[in-house]
Amino acid sequence: MTEMLLTEFDHVAIAVNDLEAAVAYYAAAFGATVEHREVVESDGVEEALLRVADSYVQLLTPTRPDSPVAKALEKRGEGLHHIGYRVKDCGAALDAVIAAGGTGIDKAPRPGSRGTTVAFVHPKGSFGTLIELVQE
Ligand code: CO
Repeated sequence: MTEMLLTEFDHVAIAVNDLEAAVAYYAAAFGATVEHREVVESDGVEEALLRVADSYVQLLTPTRPDSPVAKALEKRGEGLHHIGYRVKDCGAALDAVIAAGGTGIDKAPRPGSRGTTVAFVHPKGSFGTLIELVQE
């Protein structure tokens, strides 16, 4: 048995075409404010993080046409893109995923936004959900 490795929901990521419009909507509908904004050049995305308790809604938009998020928007339209699970040790969690039959998109942990360490797990082998392991 694997011990429980997930400590929190880190974020729910939602792919959007217009980041400003999405931020304005979350402010108007929910009073949610942006706590952090960042362009993650390596992933070709700009994100806005809206805090919900100890987790975030992450609004994501592509910064270039070859970004994976651009491809997702093209293929499936706007909506849920991935879920970020917070873990104590990203490398150990990635090893556990692979041992359980999952597939790492990242072969090793790498830098994410907010100074985190992250690794993505492919939806194939994870029951259709793109998973991001997030170590703070
Ligand atoms: Co994410």
